[in-house]
Amino acid sequence: MVTNTHRVLTGITTSGIPHLGNLVGAVLPSIKASKSKNTSTFLFLADYHSLIKNNDPVLTHNSSLEIAACWLACGLDPSKVVFYRQSDIEHIFELAWILSCFTPKGLLNRAHAYKAAIQENEKRGSKDIDKGTNMGLFNYPILMAADILMFQADIVPVGNDQKQHIEMTRDIAIRFNNSYGNLLTIPEAKIDKKTGILPGTDGQKMSKSYNNVIPIFTSGNELNKIIRSIKTNSLMPGQPKDYNNCNIFNIYKAFASEEEIKNFKRRYKDGISWGDAKDTLYEDLSKFLQPFQFEYKKICNEKAYIEETLIKGSKKAKEVSLPLIAKIRKSLGIRGFS
Ligand code: TRP
Repeated sequence: MVTNTHRVLTGITTSGIPHLGNLVGAVLPSIKASKSKNTSTFLFLADYHSLIKNNDPVLTHNSSLEIAACWLACGLDPSKVVFYRQSDIEHIFELAWILSCFTPKGLLNRAHAYKAAIQENEKRGSKDIDKGTNMGLFNYPILMAADILMFQADIVPVGNDQKQHIEMTRDIAIRFNNSYGNLLTIPEAKIDKKTGILPGTDGQKMSKSYNNVIPIFTSGNELNKIIRSIKTNSLMPGQPKDYNNCNIFNIYKAFASEEEIKNFKRRYKDGISWGDAKDTLYEDLSKFLQPFQFEYKKICNEKAYIEETLIKGSKKAKEVSLPLIAKIRKSLGIRGFS
């Protein structure tokens, strides 16, 4: 039964397994937050959002499964949250159409992703500034607004890059409410400042687009190789080292225990060699990731369990969305004649 406490909602685009930065910055904190009392958490796979960038059905299908398995492996308790697939809630798409009729086109012209595509075309001197864009990219913020408004979310934790979308959601919802009464809850963004702080192997923010990530399901030689590629300075073994400005240390402190961090700091002061520092990162990171990797392998083989979990989740989600879409239709005048 979905209760009326403070509702937190977030969506995960189903494209690619999270890396260590996502794990410590977003996945684990949201799982932890989902266990606190007085919040009900809605977490969903934004599988139709992934269609904007990917038209390979096998990839679309597999990514969805992998991301679901990943969240469950990382400790998401489906009895404590409403965990579902966007595509299972048909009336999200109905609401998206309704909302599009309340969205000035100019608002979407200003959306980051669309604007970036257009600017790229302008830069290239293309005659058609919309070249290569599709309406999915253009309407993306409306679908996101529907995801959020369909479930009357109060809080939407997102990365900084998504802040504009939440502002648009509020804007669209206020316009709707002005015409049809206060049916829609105006959500607030909660910007996670921690996400993105983790450096990648080259010292820039860890991000797939920089090709500097530590994937969370790599282990053994492959993981070791990635860690060996972390950039360091040329200080020699025996020379004291500054841990604050060190990529190895900054990655380490994102997951290690207080005690481990303290020990590592001491070894930096004592002049640890970069080779030894990387060995320690490799060993302790392997230990940290191992339980998630073990669970992930196990859960990936339990497709029926994942499916059942998501179907149960969509039933819970519909306890909220069905009554709301009925009210919305009625207030719009879309209703039967008798
Ligand atoms: N656009 C979000 C992202 O790329 C994913 C997403 C889709 C989402 N719908 C949402 C996030 C609704 C929060 C709420 O990260």
